[in-house]
Amino acid sequence: MSFQAPKGTFDWLPPRSERALAVRETLVAPARRAGYGYVETPTFEDTALFVRGVGESTDVVSKEMYTFTDKGGRSITLRPEGTAPVVRAVLQHGLHNGQLPVKLWYSGSQFRYERAQKGRYRHFWQVGAEALGAEDPALDAELILLAADGYAGLGLTGVRLLLNTLGCKECRPGYRAALQEFLRALDLDEPTRARIEINPLRVLDDKRPEVQAQLAGAPLVVDHLCEACKAYHEEVRSLLTASGVAFSDDPRLVRGLDYYTRTTFEFVHDGLGSQSAVGGGGRYDGLSEMIGGPALPSVGWALGVDRTVLAMEAEGLFEEGSAGERVQVYGVPLGEEARRRMFLLVTELRRAGLGADMSFGGKGVKGAMKGADRSGARYALILGERDLAAQAVQLKDLTTAEQTEVPLAEVADILKGKFS
Ligand code: HAM
Repeated sequence: MSFQAPKGTFDWLPPRSERALAVRETLVAPARRAGYGYVETPTFEDTALFVRGVGESTDVVSKEMYTFTDKGGRSITLRPEGTAPVVRAVLQHGLHNGQLPVKLWYSGSQFRYERAQKGRYRHFWQVGAEALGAEDPALDAELILLAADGYAGLGLTGVRLLLNTLGCKECRPGYRAALQEFLRALDLDEPTRARIEINPLRVLDDKRPEVQAQLAGAPLVVDHLCEACKAYHEEVRSLLTASGVAFSDDPRLVRGLDYYTRTTFEFVHDGLGSQSAVGGGGRYDGLSEMIGGPALPSVGWALGVDRTVLAMEAEGLFEEGSAGERVQVYGVPLGEEARRRMFLLVTELRRAGLGADMSFGGKGVKGAMKGADRSGARYALILGERDLAAQAVQLKDLTTAEQTEVPLAEVADILKGKFS
């Protein structure tokens, strides 16, 4: 019997895995330059953190969590998202008692038991950035800009930004009531009718055409905003415009997590089919209180690394051969004694800062030279018995096939010179 990766998961293998690492670095580089520090939280948390933080009525919590009881009888959940854990960590360590906003970024696996398809996985990779403890439209605009700059840094041109606001605890109840009244008059099945009472906004996100057809005249949040929310949203929009970030207002943008207030946004890419969201986020002024902390108005985003790589592939942005780190030099030892000497030479080259590999497994010259070609190295070092006797090695330029003999004692310096 042979094993396969579980349904909805896949393995990152070279060279694609190297590209994904580079994508991650580029996506978060703007946030790091803006003072966001690295945070790493555990891959699993108390189940209650997500139930209370993300919201019981969301699909994420009600259908998609990987929850189990550990050997100590605790209910544990593999994290489906990173925001609630980051807020938990900030509260636990009292970071919110220092300089505000607390700015953090993270990168890691997330787990959701979703219907698997291209671009939608059960184990996926997000990078995220969160700014906690400040209510300031400039902070919302900053985060949106940092994500837009991340995508731009990758050379992506097909990413569009959708922007919305969800109001605050002052104006949301009025909107909620208006929406519920509208929804109760529609022809909907029982589970959907129940959702109207728990979380009517989620009904707007129902993907079924027969439901969507009835939603055309649904009341919109924008028509129910209080003056403070209106002014706040206008300021976010105006800062984005002034910074040259293009966006579309999408008054129907609903996010899949319950903690959002005011600004919400999504980055979409049209080359990805139905799983078009490459990133998303927004303001979550009430999340800290929902998990037992003090008021801590905050805003952030998470960008999907898997989908961003797919978007880059859709745009043809990875050149053949752009495999990331490849070795510069490849050793081809001929015979037992040469193998031992080559092992030491390759070690010396690596310690000198060069990328070096060698042929393993006792291959003959033909097989070893094939390995040298495949490695992507610029030079091969060929070491035979006669070379050993002469304390020399053959240095072959694999692009020109030119070969020169150099003393073993000098080869590291010579190669360092060639690559400096
Ligand atoms: P989210 O919209 O659920 O937000 O996820 C953010 C991004 O993660 C999505 O836009 C998508 O690119 C990627 N993603 C989500 N689910 C999957 C999946 N099943 N397979 C592949 N990629 C996926 C959040 O997670 C919030 N924590 C974002 C946030 C941070 N809001 C405030 N701060």
